[in-house]
Amino acid sequence: SAAEKGGYEHFMIKEIMEQPKALADTLKPRIQDGRVVLDDIKLTAEDLKDIHKIDIVACGSAYHTGVVGKYVIEELTRKPVEVDLASEFRYRSPILDQHTLVIIISQSGETADTLAALRYAKTQGARTLSIVNVVGSSIANQSDDVLYTWAGPEIAVATTKAYSCQLGVLYLLALYIGDLLGTIPADVYRDYVAELLILPDKIQSILEHKEDIQYFASRNFGAKDVFFIGRNVDYALTLEGSLKLKEISYIHSEAYAAGELKHGTISLIEDGTLVVAVATLDRLFDKTMSNVKEVKARGAYVLGLTTENNRKIEQSCDFVFYIPETLDLLLPSLAVIPLQIFSYYMALMKGCDIDKPRNLAKSVTVE
Ligand code: G6P
Repeated sequence: SAAEKGGYEHFMIKEIMEQPKALADTLKPRIQDGRVVLDDIKLTAEDLKDIHKIDIVACGSAYHTGVVGKYVIEELTRKPVEVDLASEFRYRSPILDQHTLVIIISQSGETADTLAALRYAKTQGARTLSIVNVVGSSIANQSDDVLYTWAGPEIAVATTKAYSCQLGVLYLLALYIGDLLGTIPADVYRDYVAELLILPDKIQSILEHKEDIQYFASRNFGAKDVFFIGRNVDYALTLEGSLKLKEISYIHSEAYAAGELKHGTISLIEDGTLVVAVATLDRLFDKTMSNVKEVKARGAYVLGLTTENNRKIEQSCDFVFYIPETLDLLLPSLAVIPLQIFSYYMALMKGCDIDKPRNLAKSVTVE
């Protein structure tokens, strides 16, 4: 009913708008006096010194947060991180033992492949930690440690606020591990904690400009294909942007590492093809813009996404959406918001069944 949707037309947009609160609820209780405090887990500094490798395992959007998580955890903890799709993990005989920490990510806590991957990791003697939204779910109950995302119930099949909260927990966990291992300089640690605390407000400020994206969608919802490009965490984020768009709007889309375009995908770019270029990282901005020039030269129409100080993007892109500045590794938390809004309005203009897209389920309990 309309009341359940808080006056919004769909659960998806309601849940998009709830993200500042959901992320604050997930982060704030775990930051005390400038430190990340994870009272909910038993993992000690001793345990962590004994961990040689981290494996992140998940499906769908949860897997995509894991792809961002690899960049974050490796940077802050200097431990090698692998990311696996849960449906592939058990079938490639992954190298697991008591020196491996397996991080399982799942909104529902019931995804069959993800649960099977957790059980497999345990049989191999790995230490397991899950990041789960549904309290008391199978994955939460069966892992050695669990960190809950406090997103609240998520009804729309396409995840939004759970994705944001999973990312939030990955940031907390990377800071926590890095702190215990002594791999993060004190000033860097302080900056991360301070920035994490203001991410919800920055997300709120992005949501206040959602009409700009709505306008762009109203002009482009006829697109047959959309290509998302980015580098580093921007690339990791485009995986989610592309999935979100195709799952609810049924528009074919692909996410490509910007530098990889010229090894194949660029052959698909023709006059009018829509490209979404995510270029939030200053240090890779020029590199991504050179890829934008390559697609523009083949006739692409480009939506650029960057931070407020990169106004020079207007020389390269046809339409630009700006997000606030933050630390590089935290940028996906902000940049995902316009991509969610973009998918929502593209699907809305096409008249799709946004909260219940065809052929998809919220929780997949078959392997
Ligand atoms: C389904 C949902 C996706 C979700 C995936 C993993 O395919 O439609 O939105 O990302 O399952 O679900 P989980 O509950 O394990 O996060």
